[in-house]
Amino acid sequence: MNTLEARIKSDIREIPDFPKPGIGYKDITTLLDNPERFAEVIDAFKARYAEQNIDHIVAIESRGFIFGAPLAYALGVGLSLVRKPGKLPYKCHSVDYALEYGSDTVEMHIDAVKEGGRVLVIDDLLATGGTAAAACKLVEACGGEVVECAFLVELAFINAREAKLKDQKVFALATY
Ligand code: PRP
Ligand code: MG
Repeated sequence: MNTLEARIKSDIREIPDFPKPGIGYKDITTLLDNPERFAEVIDAFKARYAEQNIDHIVAIESRGFIFGAPLAYALGVGLSLVRKPGKLPYKCHSVDYALEYGSDTVEMHIDAVKEGGRVLVIDDLLATGGTAAAACKLVEACGGEVVECAFLVELAFINAREAKLKDQKVFALATY
């Protein structure tokens, strides 16, 4: 397996018809359990962002934390958390976003990102882009600048780049 993308895909387990019929779920737990691959993934993100003057990693609950924490450590920058409502103790910015049925909310502390700070938003997977777009709004509410949104996996057939994330730069290590 020559490319990192091919190696990542070979370590992601596909679960057919989960959580509902017709959906092929990308199970990253099998990749996380391969220490060589997990290290390669973090190293690849590090290589891409090391020279981009990033000030904060903003990681999205919960699976985004898995990648955001080691990357913040590797880059020597702060880690800020986007969380589901009611989890963060201090004053928060809050953003609602639409789901297929209903809506959801994410929050971030008002001082999680400094004014003018250069931010990398990270999550495990990009599907509709609703979650990542909401995280970008939280960064902007703090006065931060989103340098890029990074993902392990992008479900490109959903076309989040042209829909919800058209104002952002988007990067993914593996695309389906
Ligand atoms: C999944 C995934 C992303 C989001 C992508 O999270 O980890 O965060 O959905 O979907 P979108 O691009 O359509 O917004 P999930 O809500 O399953 O929660 P988890 O990370 O806590 O498992
Ligand atoms: Mg998630």
